Amino acid sequence: MKFIAFDVRDDEKPYFQAWAKQNKIEVTLDSGVLDERTLKKTTGYDAVLALQTRSYPEGMFEFFKKQGIKVLSIRNVGVDNLDLTAAKASQIPVTNVPAYSPNAIAEFSVTQLLQLLRQTTIFRQKIAAHDFRWAPFIGEELRSKTVGVIGTGRIGKAAIKIYQGFGARVIAYDLYPDPKLKSQGIYVPTLAALLQQADVITLHLPATAQDCYLLDEKAFSQMKQGVYIINTARGILIESKALLAALKNHRVAGAALDTYENENSIFNHDLRAQPFDDPILAELLVQPNVLITPHIAFYTKTAVENMVLIALNSAKAVCQQGKSDNLVTK
Ligand SMILES: NC(=O)c1ccc[n+]([C@@H]2O[C@H](COP(=O)([O-])OP(=O)(O)OC[C@H]3O[C@@H](n4cnc5c(N)ncnc54)[C@H](O)[C@@H]3O)[C@@H](O)[C@H]2O)c1
Repeated sequence: MKFIAFDVRDDEKPYFQAWAKQNKIEVTLDSGVLDERTLKKTTGYDAVLALQTRSYPEGMFEFFKKQGIKVLSIRNVGVDNLDLTAAKASQIPVTNVPAYSPNAIAEFSVTQLLQLLRQTTIFRQKIAAHDFRWAPFIGEELRSKTVGVIGTGRIGKAAIKIYQGFGARVIAYDLYPDPKLKSQGIYVPTLAALLQQADVITLHLPATAQDCYLLDEKAFSQMKQGVYIINTARGILIESKALLAALKNHRVAGAALDTYENENSIFNHDLRAQPFDDPILAELLVQPNVLITPHIAFYTKTAVENMVLIALNSAKAVCQQGKSDNLVTK
């Protein structure tokens, strides 16, 4: 059996190599993307592993069928860039990694909130200029806050546990409340109720067409004065222009954004010598009470190892037994 993996980063290589050795399966590692040009490289392999946000090549599944490739295993969750109808028509099973480490994202959300509450960006800037004074940048304690969690799935649940560990009061809103959390009495009946009561709003829901700009001008106007916003979910959930306005009129005291609505051409790219054309992001980047990170909440050793190993094991299971727990095409 032979596998080929595309878009392999250096930090993934040791996990691939250890698995290949342990399972005695040859795995070719390719740092390039899977596109029209590289598709022919898959010839002769049993499984293809990929990880990309850009679209996959036209006619890929038909090509796999002709070549006798048995499975496409992606190392992430999202399948929106894949033509699953074509996969089904060509009878090529697709597997994903539904959860690689909810804690990685939950921990990062809390980390960013703590930094905002203690104004660490301002202190870093002051200290770099050798200004070691404290005032007027007094901090706030998480224990004294009501944290509003929107979306109580895998990541939302992990975040709730951490916030409760800090002694914060947690309230939550979900379209489909979790029975166990419901018994704790943390759910509020409507999104509006959460917006009105929370000192911190943290997003942990997927981005669907209905939830585009969930936090828009109207939503910001319903929030408490001095609210903190944390988004490690999807950029499109927040209308960035409205957030910037809410930061300027002090409705929002601080925001941490690990995702941004126009992030694709910017995040995880080296743009040091190439200015980007996004005036709203440029303005957000220079606010001392805004923390922008390039979609790294997931990026831990544990999560990366899980993404690689779960994808490899799924590919092996499909090749050997014709099934996997992580099939996205049934
Ligand atoms: N920043 C990162 O590195 C990173 C990594 C992985 C996942 N994510 C994002 O985190 C988010 C949550 O992921 P997850 O694995 O916990 O998902 P999940 O499917 O386990 O949970 C999502 C929850 O949101 C709820 N929900 C859906 N629409 C809602 C709405 N309109 N209002 C309230 N609740 C709603 C669902 O009922 C579900 O309980 C996703 O947007 C995902 O893309 C980000």
